[in-house]
Amino acid sequence: MRRRPRRAGGRPGGDLAGALTTAPDLRATLASLELAHPVLNGSGTFDAIAALRVFGDELRERFPFSAFVSKTITVEPRAGNPPPRLWEAAAGMVNSIGLPNKGLTGFLRHDLPVLGTLPVPLVVSVAGFGHDEFAQLVAGVAERDEVAALELNVSCPNVKSGCVMGDDPRETAALMERVRPLTTKPLIVKLTPNASDVGGVAVAAEHGGADAVSLINTLRARPADPESGRPWLGAGSGGLSGPAVKAIALEQVNAVATRTSLPVVGMGGIRSGRDALDFVAAGATCVAVGTESFRDPAAGERVRAELAQLLAKRRVARLADLVRVP
Ligand SMILES: Cc1cc2nc3c(=O)[nH]c(=O)nc-3n(C[C@H](O)[C@H](O)[C@H](O)COP(=O)(O)O)c2cc1C
Repeated sequence: MRRRPRRAGGRPGGDLAGALTTAPDLRATLASLELAHPVLNGSGTFDAIAALRVFGDELRERFPFSAFVSKTITVEPRAGNPPPRLWEAAAGMVNSIGLPNKGLTGFLRHDLPVLGTLPVPLVVSVAGFGHDEFAQLVAGVAERDEVAALELNVSCPNVKSGCVMGDDPRETAALMERVRPLTTKPLIVKLTPNASDVGGVAVAAEHGGADAVSLINTLRARPADPESGRPWLGAGSGGLSGPAVKAIALEQVNAVATRTSLPVVGMGGIRSGRDALDFVAAGATCVAVGTESFRDPAAGERVRAELAQLLAKRRVARLADLVRVP
């Protein structure tokens, strides 16, 4: 990984004059998961199976995240949306990938055995188009020993199915009532920023027995073809992510953190340790790197290293001392 050149000059005595002599303790607790550091991946933004194929044991030795969140799976296999599926936005991108995946059976047979060899806890992301499908997914995934936790993707901003379980607190409560009894493993609810009251949805998730929440998913967006003015994406609309959404994400993370006592995994435009620290200040316990991993697959590791440097510079010995107590 490339290092940033050190700036010449600076304050007398150098920036690190008062820094800690030992590396800060970055350990984080997410529900019952004890993590080596707070940096996870955003679901669907890091293909660990492809990366293992290319880097093999080197990736296992230097895995960029402290837990791995799988791409969202559905009950049935899905081909995803028609192309084009990506649009480069100012300071971000719009995707309409549309949850392509092998379905529950294909995932359990082909992907889980590989993901189970990763050196970090595995979180499997699931999305159902109704309570029965969610229940089938939670029951099928949670019984496998390789799985440490599940993330319930109630956002689905790209799929034209009317998947609105994360738009409304009552919908979220009903979903939790159905799936919570199915497993004792941690359930993380991934919230959608397209809800009018994200804090209310988080409260409903907490009352329904969620162990944590993660946010934000992508913001509904509709890029236009610069020539024709017609929708650029094959699916018409998609979801915006990347630096463009960071301030929105900070606002929503803060809204959720002030209304619930659940641990929060904050994400949305994180590219640096500085960004990660902003999310911790807003109330996050952990953070996730998404779009930035497409530009720099080692971004997770870099964000962790930069965060450690920042804490050392500020003489903070333990990240946990900055995290709000849930
Ligand atoms: C190409 C792409 C695919 C994604 N796929 C999923 C997915 O399968 N499930 C999910 O919950 N979120 C998915 N997301 C959303 C990210 O996990 C993350 O919540 C969002 O992009 C905001 O973080 P970022 O700005 O750092 O990318 C996807 C995002 C992108 C860009």
